[in-house]
Amino acid sequence: MKQTYISEIGKHEGQKVTIRGWLYNKRSSGKLHFLQVRDGTGIVQCVVFKGDVSEEVFGRSDAATQESSVVVQGVVRADKRSAIGFEVGVTDLKIVQAAQEYPIAKKDHGVGFLMDHRHLWLRSSRQHAILRVRSEIVKACRDYYDERGFTLVDAPIFTPTACEGTTTLFETDYFGEKAYLTQSGQLYMEAAAMAFGKVYCFGPTFRAEKSKTRRHLTEFWMIEPEVAFYDLNDDMDLAEDFVAYVVARVLANRRPELLVLERDVAKLEQVQKPFPRISYDEALAILKEHGVDVPWGEDFGGDEETMLANHFDRPVLVHRYPARCKAFYMKGDPEDALKALCVDMLAPEGYGEIIGGGQREDDLETLERKIEEHGLPKEAFEWYLDVRRYGSVPHAGFGLGIERTVAWICGLKHVRETIPFPRMLERLRP
Ligand code: 4AD
Ligand code: MG
Repeated sequence: MKQTYISEIGKHEGQKVTIRGWLYNKRSSGKLHFLQVRDGTGIVQCVVFKGDVSEEVFGRSDAATQESSVVVQGVVRADKRSAIGFEVGVTDLKIVQAAQEYPIAKKDHGVGFLMDHRHLWLRSSRQHAILRVRSEIVKACRDYYDERGFTLVDAPIFTPTACEGTTTLFETDYFGEKAYLTQSGQLYMEAAAMAFGKVYCFGPTFRAEKSKTRRHLTEFWMIEPEVAFYDLNDDMDLAEDFVAYVVARVLANRRPELLVLERDVAKLEQVQKPFPRISYDEALAILKEHGVDVPWGEDFGGDEETMLANHFDRPVLVHRYPARCKAFYMKGDPEDALKALCVDMLAPEGYGEIIGGGQREDDLETLERKIEEHGLPKEAFEWYLDVRRYGSVPHAGFGLGIERTVAWICGLKHVRETIPFPRMLERLRP
């Protein structure tokens, strides 16, 4: 008999169905076994009544262990107490494989233990909800650009140069030559924007982050739009519209998952345009009000970002940071050479930076000088300088970190649960 997915079970009320999945949980009382069966699309209670089934089937239900793989047949009936509104009256049960004693029990395990068992932890309803939200966010990000005339241009993973500073590079041997895992697809998107106008890339990026924080992974996913003829203001408009869209999509399509995560959705519903926009100088003043003195010229650390983000009820755009704390490719502010035409978006509720970007230096000589000032090897950037030699135009873009966005939207304390198999300073396994 054809398999019915639990998410579709409501369409089969009164009918006999076959469900294939895993035993999530079980409760028994005399003549009854209540099996919670999950199949990846949902969880349904399957009731085995002694009077309805053969002795073998009742015995198998009795013996079935947590996470055993099962094939259940039964009749779908409405049930008001059920979270999904239905349950299954079992007529037959087969065990595909009887699971050994499952290491993840109901009791509280430490995060280290759960992380070591990440391959199994993914089966829990909380992790399930988080990764379904992640999947929706990724789809929403892609749809946003696809529906607005952007072309997806994939950036390489092996790169000969640094994009975001040389201290976080993962080096690897490339047939006797040094190569690095990409920190960002941006430089390639700049070239692609001159070919296609509006482009984006989406892929994994790598940073050898040696500090343990709740916001840093060594491998994370980033979506990076880049647009020819955009200036900083256009860039901020795009970032704002994009993030409002992504949040609205999750609210529209993943409410049940947000409920599982006990997310306060009212906070997400506030994420409406326009977002506040403040300069770095204004941000310093806000920090000062909170008793934090950041000397002009310093970048914000995690604590300062948390404080700034907490100051607003929706994401805030902080623009025009001091050039000296930003990357070599940033265009200088024509009104103040010490500042860069850049922008960070900080998510509310203390989440901090989710987007970094800005307008790019489009003048050949200025860019050559900046590459030199940053001590970067000019030869390796000749191709990038070509973008300024042949029809250079103002252009801008940004990168949104998927994991930090998932952490914020799901309301999680740490990014480690936002990606199926996290890579961090002390975690390469499983
Ligand atoms: O601010 P970043 O470093 O900007 C860039 O890489 C630009 N080249 C992007 C561009 O303009 N095309 O990183 C962008 C975002 C951050 O705001 C953050 O969300 C995320 O990437 N990010 C990280 N996420 C998790 N772990 C890390 N170690 C991250 N580093 C950056
Ligand atoms: Mg940044």
